[in-house]
Amino acid sequence: SYSNMGIVFWTFSLLALPLTHSAKILTVCLIGEWGLLKTIPLMTKIFTVIVRVSNNFNDFLNFMEHLSFQCDKLLGDKEMITFLQRENYNIIILDAFNPCSFILAHKLGVSYIAFYPGTLNGPLSIALPSPVSYIPVFGSQLSHHMDLWGRAKNLFFSLLEIVWLKFKEVAERHLESGPPPGGLNELHQGAELWAFNTDFSLEFPQPLMPYTVLVGGLLNKPAKPLEQDMELWISSFGEAGFIIVTLGSMISSVSVAPLLVELVAGFSMIPQGVLWRYDSHRWPSHVDRPINVRLVDWLPINDLLGHKKARVFITHGGQNSLLQAVYHAVPVLGIPLFGDQFDNVVRAETKGLGLSINPTHITRELLNTTIQTLIQDTGYADGK
Ligand SMILES: *[C@@H]1O[C@H](CO)[C@@H](O)[C@H](O)[C@H]1NC(C)=O
Repeated sequence: SYSNMGIVFWTFSLLALPLTHSAKILTVCLIGEWGLLKTIPLMTKIFTVIVRVSNNFNDFLNFMEHLSFQCDKLLGDKEMITFLQRENYNIIILDAFNPCSFILAHKLGVSYIAFYPGTLNGPLSIALPSPVSYIPVFGSQLSHHMDLWGRAKNLFFSLLEIVWLKFKEVAERHLESGPPPGGLNELHQGAELWAFNTDFSLEFPQPLMPYTVLVGGLLNKPAKPLEQDMELWISSFGEAGFIIVTLGSMISSVSVAPLLVELVAGFSMIPQGVLWRYDSHRWPSHVDRPINVRLVDWLPINDLLGHKKARVFITHGGQNSLLQAVYHAVPVLGIPLFGDQFDNVVRAETKGLGLSINPTHITRELLNTTIQTLIQDTGYADGK
């Protein structure tokens, strides 16, 4: 562990066809510790003054700052780097979210395949042509239909690609050849292949390149029957059916305490059963739980979304959740809390998959009426 950086390396040999030789592959996934988000003294504070666009964008910059700090520690570990160099990998598969993965691959001098966990308009340039005239920039919360104001906003957001500034210093310190002159762009373009965890059911029009593949929906599969206990609980709500709620770990740019109160009050107004993934030990003691709400530590999301009584899926808008909702044609109510989720729910809404509520605007009445709209208007399940 490098100051709380989760580091995951896997090495495996893959038999390449024809079976003349095997390849030694290193997969790199560098995971940041979100808990440190607010505690680092930041150069990005300077930008905050200039930018002041949104809390959310600022949090993202803070997080990147933190990743660059961890990157410095990782690349400075001579023992680890020497070990990786001696292994003589044939290829690296890396998680493209963290710029550090690219610097590491560059340092090891091994060819790499980039896997990007989110949508095509990632927070960093992602080796795709992205004209600002019609492709919304990360964090802009715009759709592809932009009016003059929208385009001005998009142009402004496109100027905020300042993330590399921080990683540049790290690259300077740890790459013998110095940082690549083309910055992160050059590192991105050096990938042999780009795989994106997305699908055009969730994307706006966007040019792709011959080295791009879209692999979104890998987790989707037909639903299996539920456990009997769960099935009984669902049938107790009759034709009203049930809704599924997962809001991740509720890492948020907004304060979640009032949000929780409104959610609970809103759920008590609806006839549907509410299946909520929430650690019941962490449930605030001052909040009463309505009888139609059931808290569970873990949910078989795929099987639940595929259930014929599933009416609405309330999600923070993680990419995998949205892909699952698309697959099972369950209307989405997006309540974005952090990072790319804000842009993701704009997409889901524009694509007719559902509606969204800004967590700071949520009220019990709005929650009730939005859920009822999603259930009654069959267009949402058809993706309009
Ligand atoms: C919830 O919303 C529905 C549809 O808008 C409305 O008919 C119903 O009265 C609301 N329920 C409550 C308890 O306000």
